[in-house]
Amino acid sequence: MKPERTFNIGIRDVNFGPGVTVADCVNLYGCTIGEACFIGPFVEVQKGVVIGKNTKVQSHSFICELVSIGDNCFIGHGVMFINDLFSDGKPADGDKAKWKSTTIGNNVSIGSNATILPVSICDGAVIGAGAVVTKNIDLPGIYAGNPARLIKSL
Ligand SMILES: CC(C)(COP(=O)(O)OP(=O)(O)OC[C@H]1O[C@@H](n2cnc3c(N)ncnc32)[C@H](O)[C@@H]1OP(=O)(O)O)[C@@H](O)C(=O)NCCC(=O)NCCS
Repeated sequence: MKPERTFNIGIRDVNFGPGVTVADCVNLYGCTIGEACFIGPFVEVQKGVVIGKNTKVQSHSFICELVSIGDNCFIGHGVMFINDLFSDGKPADGDKAKWKSTTIGNNVSIGSNATILPVSICDGAVIGAGAVVTKNIDLPGIYAGNPARLIKSL
């Protein structure tokens, strides 16, 4: 039996800066991707996301609505951003008033398989592989673990 509904997104309504490289098998829609960015395979970037210049997004990462990422950032493989905290004990079920935003500064590096809850991360921060970032990061440093903690100042 075939599924009742399927949808195919691909690349739709994206505002690309010059010199962007995009791999095959991506879903990019309604977002802005700045000059000289790299977007690896199996990445999804949702509506309204803004990514600055010269930022690299490695394969399998998911960048949801209400996320903005600065210039010269490195987003590792399989990094997951979150906008719905299940604040009522369950998914917001499309009620965007309950979603929260995330801001990533410039020159931020995020290790593979990190999960970024709705926070802001300052310029120059480094997030370790597998970290779960639950609070704002206001001082440049290396943060790792679940929940992410400062392990080294920079
Ligand atoms: C977080 C990170 C930047 C730290 O590197 P570092 O400064 O060289 O840190 P060290 O290896 O000296 O480790 C310091 C301590 O933090 C711990 N640690 C290191 N990375 C960690 C991580 N990702 N999560 C949890 N703890 C970590 C180490 O076990 C060590 O603990 P100890 O003091 O109890 O022995 C690095 O380990 C990392 O996760 N990099 C991400 C790389 C990545 O994902 N690249 C993607 C492209 S392949």
